[in-house]
Amino acid sequence: MIYSKIIGTGSYLPEKVLTNFDLEKMTDTTDEWIVTRTGIHSRHVASAKDLPVYMAEQAASKALKAARIKPTDIDLILVTTVAPEKFFPSTACLLQSRLQTNSCMAFDVNAACSGFIYGLTIADQFIKSKMIKRALVVSSEVMTSFVDWQDRNTCVLFGDGAGAAVVEASKEPGIIASKLHANGKLHDIIYSDTELFAKEKTCIKPARIHMKGRELYKLAIKAMSSIVKEVLADTNIKISDVDWLIPHQANQRMIEMVIKKLHFPSEKVIITIGDQANTSSASIPLALDYAVRNNMIKSGQHVVLDAFGAGLAWGGMLIKF
Ligand SMILES: CC(C)(COP(=O)(O)OP(=O)(O)OC[C@H]1O[C@@H](n2cnc3c(N)ncnc32)[C@H](O)[C@@H]1OP(=O)(O)O)[C@@H](O)C(=O)NCCC(=O)NCCS
Repeated sequence: MIYSKIIGTGSYLPEKVLTNFDLEKMTDTTDEWIVTRTGIHSRHVASAKDLPVYMAEQAASKALKAARIKPTDIDLILVTTVAPEKFFPSTACLLQSRLQTNSCMAFDVNAACSGFIYGLTIADQFIKSKMIKRALVVSSEVMTSFVDWQDRNTCVLFGDGAGAAVVEASKEPGIIASKLHANGKLHDIIYSDTELFAKEKTCIKPARIHMKGRELYKLAIKAMSSIVKEVLADTNIKISDVDWLIPHQANQRMIEMVIKKLHFPSEKVIITIGDQANTSSASIPLALDYAVRNNMIKSGQHVVLDAFGAGLAWGGMLIKF
């Protein structure tokens, strides 16, 4: 049996930090409202240099270093993003040119906030089919490129960042199980208004996030709790055997509701939302890298990744480290 093992992680956060108090000066909101409703205190915001490929490169370089492998050892570069630098070529190809890998496969995946789990699952399948030995999965998101700073319903929720993981074929268990789902019927619950095919045939830059917050909140709690049960169901690992849960960081209250439904202890949940906000697909690899670098996740431990977002698309993954 071949498994895919995570052998290195990395992440990058832009230097610029925007606090809730800064936001109070930009829109009709308060630190108190944001903290009590979401658990967010501040977020990192991309500067001019923090293009998606730059952030991806920073996170990827750290992951490669941690994995102790050279860019030429990579067989697949997979970037997940909702904010690609260009419509084409893919951000993965732009990253490939910076990393100077061989002519390995490179492509992007957009599964919104669930992108990292989708990306890792795809890489895992390529490894299991023996088509490749090593993959670099990078999630890089400049969510603030969509943010309308006058829309208090959404602008307080998002931040920018990138996270990466190197996965390698192994005889020892790594990725044990993953489950992915989507429901496109609910595509209009959260979307950006890029009108690439508008009547005037003009390409309008993504400018705004439209979101039915309350509906999304309920759907996310339901999906994020059921996917954890689903991903464990096919394995011999019980929820009580799980050492760490890394949920998508969209709202701390939402995460608390999910773990309440799962009867999962809060001290085993990796939470980074307080100073990062929602970085879409980058949120899970950012939290994963945080936990790895702070020696929270140890070799042999079981970690569950749990994501939900636009699409709607959601997914769960069980990994043995
Ligand atoms: C967005 C969210 C934090 C709002 O929290 P909520 O408790 O549902 O708040 P409501 O939508 O009921 O709004 C309550 C009031 O606060 C107001 N409000 C909204 N944003 C505000 C802000 N930033 N500051 C102050 N007031 C705000 C609303 O206008 C509303 O006022 P009204 O009652 O006068 O109309 C919450 O619904 C949520 O997190 N949803 C999921 C979002 C998400 O996960 N998105 C990404 C998916 S990957």
